[in-house]
Amino acid sequence: MIRNDIKALAAYHVQDATGLIKLDAMENPYPLPDALRREWAGIIGSLNINRYPDPDMRELRRAIAERDGLNADQVLLGNGSDEIIQMLLIAADHGPCVVPRPTFVMYGMISRWLKRPVAAVPLDGDFSLNAEAFLRVCAREKAGIAFLACPNNPTGNMWPRDTIRHIADNFRGLLVIDEAYRPFADETHVDMIAPHVIVLRTYSKLGLAGLRLGYALGHPDTIGEINKVRLPYNISSAGQASAAFFVEHFGIFEEQAEKIRHERDRLATALAAMEAVETYPSQANFLLLRVPDADAVFGSLMQRGVLVKNLHPEGGLLENCLRVTIGLPEENDRFLNALKEALA
Ligand SMILES: Cc1ncc(COP(=O)(O)O)c(C=O)c1O
Repeated sequence: MIRNDIKALAAYHVQDATGLIKLDAMENPYPLPDALRREWAGIIGSLNINRYPDPDMRELRRAIAERDGLNADQVLLGNGSDEIIQMLLIAADHGPCVVPRPTFVMYGMISRWLKRPVAAVPLDGDFSLNAEAFLRVCAREKAGIAFLACPNNPTGNMWPRDTIRHIADNFRGLLVIDEAYRPFADETHVDMIAPHVIVLRTYSKLGLAGLRLGYALGHPDTIGEINKVRLPYNISSAGQASAAFFVEHFGIFEEQAEKIRHERDRLATALAAMEAVETYPSQANFLLLRVPDADAVFGSLMQRGVLVKNLHPEGGLLENCLRVTIGLPEENDRFLNALKEALA
């Protein structure tokens, strides 16, 4: 009845965060300002929810495209960028999906659902990416698609532009540059868009995780082809109206992202002063740390009311690693104190 390879999979696990300071999922900790929330509620209240949503979303796509100096036909919208990853893996040419290891788990997971083989190229010990090694695996495997998260999750680092440019210039399949953490990073790769190069973005990390809105930016012809595997009405009326409203108030989210970047640097400095902790450079809204015993530290942080992500079970380069999302200043202080106690 159900495919054996699906039966063998573990479902995506989300840790229960009830009563805990939630620093595990890269959410923006700042709530919507009250005035904005009221205005938004009015818009949602006036929707004709008995009708199907706009299937084409041209106006919303235009507003999103404009922010990057692009046109509406260069934007594809998804129910979170996860849905776009799925569309890309459905539409790309046959051939394995090549990813660095470690990276965002959904690239591999969705590939397996779709019976697309996955080839992983290990990062170096400092999480740097060897472009030649990556291209060698792509050529050897006859890859159909490759994903590079820039900055990478869960490591937080940004690979040099030259590395990405070299891969973009020499890869023959579809290259997806995933900029989920763009609001916290110094640069974008939008200028590398080409018929075989797509840039992926999301509003999830910016303060709208509950909205589930992601988008791909690309060449109009490629976007047009991928659009053929988009489910009709994949963005609800509420999602479309909310996104159109929030795009107009983008400045608020950008200000919050700036505060988060500032907090990230403060937290990184405080962690660098802790002898038992190794912290890695990050251009995202989280930090990757290595501690002497990640399982034990994760457990003691939980007991002290702080939930982070324990990456130790993934092994390899992530042995004894924890990933902490940047929270409100007081939440970050609670985390720092709890970590000091856990390590004492
Ligand atoms: C690199 C990367 N891409 C995509 C996503 C998925 O984001 P969304 O919430 O838009 O599905 C994440 C979420 O953690 C991520 O880390």
